Amino acid sequence: MKLAGPGALVYSLITIYLQPVAAALVNRTIDDQFGDSVTGLLPVYSPAKGVWDNQTCMGCAIKPNVARAFMGTYSAATYNPGLTSMGITMQFSGTAIYVFFILANNQGDGITTVTQANFSVDGGSPVPFLHMPNLSTTTLQYNSLVFSRTNLSNGDHRLDITTTGSTNIYVNFDYAVYT
Ligand SMILES: *[C@@H]1O[C@H](CO)[C@@H](O)[C@H](O)[C@H]1NC(C)=O
Ligand SMILES: *[C@@H]1O[C@H](CO)[C@@H](O)[C@H](O)[C@H]1NC(C)=O
Ligand SMILES: *[C@@H]1O[C@H](CO)[C@@H](O)[C@H](O)[C@H]1NC(C)=O
Ligand SMILES: *[C@@H]1O[C@H](CO)[C@@H](O)[C@H](O)[C@H]1NC(C)=O
Ligand SMILES: *[C@@H]1O[C@H](CO)[C@@H](O)[C@H](O)[C@H]1NC(C)=O
Repeated sequence: MKLAGPGALVYSLITIYLQPVAAALVNRTIDDQFGDSVTGLLPVYSPAKGVWDNQTCMGCAIKPNVARAFMGTYSAATYNPGLTSMGITMQFSGTAIYVFFILANNQGDGITTVTQANFSVDGGSPVPFLHMPNLSTTTLQYNSLVFSRTNLSNGDHRLDITTTGSTNIYVNFDYAVYT
């Protein structure tokens, strides 16, 4: 079929409007230290000083293999009740979010390896996560999906990861993915 003049214009407008919306779904990452793969926006850690360490930490009892961490980095902290609360906040724009931690098991006597946190999107009710260490292994668990939410309205969102309570807790944030 050969279209010319106004016919061709109408034809191309129809083709443009028929582009499927679903083709626009893409994943982006938020690294614990390099931040958002597109905007560069960084996660915010609290308390801001003295609690969170990273892969350069010499004195830390748990030393994950950086070669197995996303982008060679991670941010870890051991909560103690004296802190009252610690956490990570990140902003993203999209419809889904997935969070990946590095989980610890038996790293030796007296080393805190329980991981526990609450996840809240846009100030909504907290979703708890708990990992009890497997005492039969010293293996660390990389790329562990600890939270996901896939039914968000398309737009700006905030994720708060918080840890509180009366026991010591290990948290190691590697990266998040959002859609
Ligand atoms: C985005 O990443 C998550 C987690 O890895 C995966 O389950 C999902 O299928 C991905 N979505 C797209 C659109 O690639
Ligand atoms: C990693 O930790 C070291 C030592 O605490 C600190 O000087 C450095 O700023 C940290 N790097 C990042 C990207 O936070
Ligand atoms: C704990 O680790 C041992 C040794 O690797 C393994 O055989 C066992 O299946 C693990 N248990 C659980 C609950 O993952
Ligand atoms: C979205 O999913 C969560 C569980 O992942 C559920 O609690 C919530 O009710 C859902 N919200 C909507 C609007 O479907
Ligand atoms: C998660 O939230 C619940 C309810 O607010 C709270 O009781 C619990 O201590 C929190 N857990 C952690 C690990 O912060």
